[in-house]
Amino acid sequence: MAKQCSVNRKDVPEGGSPMCDDTRAKLLPALQKVQKEKGYISNEDMQDLADEFGIHPVEVHSVVTFYAFLKTGKQGKHHIRVSNCPSCECAGSKEVFAAFQKELGISGGEVTPDGEFSLELSSCIGMCDHAPAVMIGERLVGNVTPEKAALLIKECKEGKGAYTGEYSPGAIERKGDILLKPVEPYASLKKALDIGRAEVLQEVRSSGIKGRGGAGFPTGVKWNLAAAAQSDRKYVVCNADEGEPGTFKDRVLISEYARTVFEGMAIAAFAIGAREGIMYMRGEYASFLPALLDVLAEMRKDGALGKNIFGRGFDFDIEVRLGSGAYVCGEETALIESLEGNRGEPRNRPPFPVNTGYLGDPTVVNNVETCVAVVHIVKNGSEWFRSFGTENSSGTKLLSVSGDCEKPGVYEVPFGTSIEEILKMSGAKDTQAVQVGGASGICLGKKDFKRQISFEDVPTGGAVIVLGKGRDMMDLGRNFLEFFREESCGQCTPCREGIPVLLEMWENIRNNGLTEKERSKLYSLAETMQLASKCGLGQSSPNAFLSIIESFIEKG
Ligand SMILES: Cc1cc2nc3c(=O)[nH]c(=O)nc-3n(C[C@H](O)[C@H](O)[C@H](O)COP(=O)(O)O)c2cc1C
Ligand code: SF4
Repeated sequence: MAKQCSVNRKDVPEGGSPMCDDTRAKLLPALQKVQKEKGYISNEDMQDLADEFGIHPVEVHSVVTFYAFLKTGKQGKHHIRVSNCPSCECAGSKEVFAAFQKELGISGGEVTPDGEFSLELSSCIGMCDHAPAVMIGERLVGNVTPEKAALLIKECKEGKGAYTGEYSPGAIERKGDILLKPVEPYASLKKALDIGRAEVLQEVRSSGIKGRGGAGFPTGVKWNLAAAAQSDRKYVVCNADEGEPGTFKDRVLISEYARTVFEGMAIAAFAIGAREGIMYMRGEYASFLPALLDVLAEMRKDGALGKNIFGRGFDFDIEVRLGSGAYVCGEETALIESLEGNRGEPRNRPPFPVNTGYLGDPTVVNNVETCVAVVHIVKNGSEWFRSFGTENSSGTKLLSVSGDCEKPGVYEVPFGTSIEEILKMSGAKDTQAVQVGGASGICLGKKDFKRQISFEDVPTGGAVIVLGKGRDMMDLGRNFLEFFREESCGQCTPCREGIPVLLEMWENIRNNGLTEKERSKLYSLAETMQLASKCGLGQSSPNAFLSIIESFIEKG
């Protein structure tokens, strides 16, 4: 099959398959550099980059306008993003935003007259365990109060780097006996090199592990397909986009277990025959980049990356690329488009990335947690891994627990753990509902608290948002629908047009209650969106709203 590759279309020879190189892939990093240096990307900058990349300026403009972090108008020297995810809203982000507005004398989307500050409301920034959270420039700041907002502005004016209330890793709960325990550096990678490719593939397959990013595709099957694909170039991509509202466990893995994540990528690369790896990390986590580059440098020094790894003739290296504020880029084909320097628009599938991925070559995309889990599988064996969890969901799962609970944090639980047990662990009291799986997940009321986290019962990429007594459940539905309206890439009609209609229905139900006519219209639209949307974003966008209607509106 001819390679499908959007890179350097101009190089496609007549009648031949595209010759993919990574020239165009450098466009997004180039735009990010201009954005960082100047605070925005001007028409002249776009023209310059168009000339440099040999493409039309319209193409550059279309990429710039896709990503929330790339701006065509001037931003303040200190750009403040206030997260409006449900956990941050529960903890008072609206009041924090109002305090910033008052202190700065500007509204969201505006810049102060002296050009020092700009302000905006933002989708989840992955700091729900420190809600309410804000981003100032690249820095993540947690536990912000309206009083602290004034202090933060003062500190920015004084040029201080250390903002009060900054994210401090030690402050949150970490409960886990496997993935959150330190491992002996490189023991698994060395073992993988000893036992050989076929046995690694077999162990991962036998472990039954399913991807931890949400979709739950069996990792062993994915690796075997990529290993069998015929190509002299293959890639391993670690998906560290973590944009699902309520999820932050990958942030903890990246910032505290980076070497293990990279070791997992190296094992995947060895198994499928790849020499290049890329971690695609959400722009919100840009402040972790220097530390990640240090870890990579150390691994090269240790002989665990680079040429001839541990003297066994295996070459592999990793680079880290940043996203630019687009949730849909967590979807693996949108991620690949983004890596190639394009708008992060999901592709049609098939072909699947294992055959036709980055630059048209076979590519394995795995979640950060999946990469960590395989390090433990290779070390301890598939049977050991299967001893945790349930028949169809082997192993443990990291959960990001936030919202109305005493101890928000990252909890590792074996699959099969009930919602009730999770509430107990995190010190949640008087719980009205639990949103599992973020905006694309479902909302469970009390009657469902005995249900279990597993692929066969309540699947989740990791987000668990606790909603206490008195929380407005319809408001939660509004929050998610507005999130999806903002994040839809707009490529296909059911998603682009359906989400605003769902929001209108929300308004109607809020004002007039749920009539039979509205109910049947809602279910019919939701079904169309679930069936006809191109990617998981559109397909899952009605889920939370429907479950809220089912559990909290229809039945009482
Ligand atoms: C809208 C959307 C967003 C997604 N975001 C992420 C993400 O942030 N991280 C992630 O690992 N997977 C995400 N996924 C799932 C990926 O498409 C893909 O299934 C996953 O990265 C594969 O890795 P795994 O098999 O290890 O789970 C997302 C899917 C959709 C539809
Ligand atoms: S479903 Fe939505 S996000 Fe996905 S491709 Fe269609 S418009 Fe884009």
